[in-house]
Amino acid sequence: MEKLHIKGGNKLYGTVKIGCAKNAYLPILAGAILCEGKVKLNNYPFYKDILNMTNILENLGAEKTLNDGCIELDMTNLTNYEIPSNLSMLTRSSIFSLGAILGRFKKAKVAYPGGCDIGTRPIDLHLKGLRALNVKLIDKRGYITCDGSNMKGGIVHLDFPSVGATENIMMAGVLTKGETKIINGAKEPEIEDLQNFLNKAGAKIKGAGTNIITIKGVEKLNSVEYTPISDRIITGTYIIACGICGGEIILENANLNHLEALTDKLDKNCYKIWSKNNSIIINSKGKHNAITKIETMPYPGFPTDLQPQIVAMLSTCKGTSVVVENLFETRYKYTNELIKMGADIIIKERNAIIKGVENLYGAEVYATDLRGGAGLVLAGLMADGYTTVGNVSQIERGYENFEQTLADLGADIKKISV
Ligand code: EPZ
Repeated sequence: MEKLHIKGGNKLYGTVKIGCAKNAYLPILAGAILCEGKVKLNNYPFYKDILNMTNILENLGAEKTLNDGCIELDMTNLTNYEIPSNLSMLTRSSIFSLGAILGRFKKAKVAYPGGCDIGTRPIDLHLKGLRALNVKLIDKRGYITCDGSNMKGGIVHLDFPSVGATENIMMAGVLTKGETKIINGAKEPEIEDLQNFLNKAGAKIKGAGTNIITIKGVEKLNSVEYTPISDRIITGTYIIACGICGGEIILENANLNHLEALTDKLDKNCYKIWSKNNSIIINSKGKHNAITKIETMPYPGFPTDLQPQIVAMLSTCKGTSVVVENLFETRYKYTNELIKMGADIIIKERNAIIKGVENLYGAEVYATDLRGGAGLVLAGLMADGYTTVGNVSQIERGYENFEQTLADLGADIKKISV
């Protein structure tokens, strides 16, 4: 089994090139199902979730070629409209392939999705949206079996701005006769990126990033080449890492506009952050102050995917901080691991009350999920002594060469096999 072995205390200096966003690449790969031709996506990121998604596409009949940092998919001869549980359970993104498969085949059979163990992760809003497009579906024995032979555009009001449900319904509407309207959809930058990809292939979508998204059905989508946006969560992870360790780092291919909810919370006395061309420069003295309250919210609110990372930083900030996790009811599992490192954290329902301690000490900890694991690595970078983080494969679902990138910045971290 592989673990990350970290000796805390080093500052970070250097440059990191941020890769494409996992949560943009995944729905765009699903959107490729709608294209009857060749799809070329640039800056292919080697996150495990992306590999799982390309395996799903191959299982549908896609031909995949990786070269020169790009993935080329031949989507001409898709023959299969089913996603079996052994593939579906590996990633959350299998569920929003449903809309794309329905759009292409007008039928689908998809097993329940996997994804991080951070809550119940229901799919009721996905199914509500598909039913509004006149899809007949049976939800039984862990499979969603759909008949889309009479699909037509419809109006979908989302009770909650679910990212995946918004993407699913958008893709289901692209090749469906009539107009589909999504009200109260998610506004994440990755939704706009999906709209831009699909429109480049011939779709007629507008409004992504606003409260109302409109999709006018078209006959077919064509071959397309596209470069998805950079990963704002990885960018935010390195911004927080610099606040934890101190130092100065440059993040290339990074967009500060997508992270205003994070930078708004950071103490200007500890951090200097500015953009230059397509890069972000961060200079930090480390030793941030406590933050009275952070509430995770749908975009443009504070991203839930940065919650573990900021809690790791707050665990040694002078004073008491409160974090409220409004999206996923069990996204605090990693705090039990932080407590092993000396953190003083009380969890009360959706609230984490973090009393800053002088410092953390190294311990053997375990990555409970993708972003929880990243938070534990950041804690190890500042802890006294040695920390090992187990279950590294969770972190590799959304970070490429995380330990090597941190080592190149001056952290004392390496991957060991035990
Ligand atoms: C996407 O998950 C991301 N994953 C998550 O990133 C991210 O945390 C989440 O959006 C929120 O931003 C991908 O894009 C692959 P949701 P998703 O549907 O689509 C409730 C990471 O670390 N809900 O917006 O599953 C749900 O319970 C991962 O990269 C319903 O009630 O998130 C939750 O409370 C983790 N019914 C809230 O909506 C539904 O049908 C947000 O979920 C769907 C969701």
